[in-house]
Amino acid sequence: MKTDERRARIREVHRRLVQEGPPWTRDREADFDTVTVPERDCDQLRDLLVAEGAQTVVEVGLAYASSALAIGEALVAVNAPRPRHVIIDPFQERDWSNAGWDLLRRAGLDTIASLMLAPSSIALPQLLTEGLVADAAFVDGSHRFHEVFVDLYFLRKIVRPGGLIVIDDTWAPSVRTAVHYYERNLGWTVIPDAFPSEDSTAAAADSPTEPATRCKAIRLPNPSFEPSFEDFHAF
Ligand SMILES: C[S@@+](CC[C@H](N)C(=O)[O-])C[C@H]1O[C@@H](n2cnc3c(N)ncnc32)[C@H](O)[C@@H]1O
Repeated sequence: MKTDERRARIREVHRRLVQEGPPWTRDREADFDTVTVPERDCDQLRDLLVAEGAQTVVEVGLAYASSALAIGEALVAVNAPRPRHVIIDPFQERDWSNAGWDLLRRAGLDTIASLMLAPSSIALPQLLTEGLVADAAFVDGSHRFHEVFVDLYFLRKIVRPGGLIVIDDTWAPSVRTAVHYYERNLGWTVIPDAFPSEDSTAAAADSPTEPATRCKAIRLPNPSFEPSFEDFHAF
């Protein structure tokens, strides 16, 4: 199948997901809308990864697969010889009835994606030990401070120097604080305007120095470095 046809198939699955919702949801009110990454952010994520020429992407948190479809479409668009999408979610079978994975299969993306049914704190060190090098990562997993912090600790070693880490839900203090450590201490820089907000009032609701955007795209330093413990900056 040609790249255009593969992309059209993915877009059709995503379009139906946006319009009709997933075939199965958890028994919670408006669960899909609450949990999944909105279409606009997915499109921005896809475009960013295409511009990056990403060939290997690690994703934490599958749920209903909106972001996974966007990442998969980007990988197909880049059309590298061996694209790889490693997805980590310990609860995809147990809590999500494989809803996200079934959508990826429907989109024909199971040929490039693999799913690790383990917590990211276990799966990421395993990938590091295996020697995986990624161009980019997308983090939308547990949202607990300590777990996001650990995800970023390992992703910093898995994503190549100069690569990209995109973090969802940075409006949450737990997520935002974890990211802050790496920004203040490890040379991570925010890519401005990677996820332009439609609603400027959302930005005004938060601190004047830290707009309340949803996704944040970070560029890792190149070369990577380890600071002295004496250079610690509180975050
Ligand atoms: C907000 S949802 C992800 C939404 C998804 N990006 C989408 O667009 O539909 C969070 C996901 O993280 C998963 N999760 C929770 N704890 C995790 C952990 N420790 N490691 C990896 N994934 C985790 C949950 O099972 C859930 O699927």
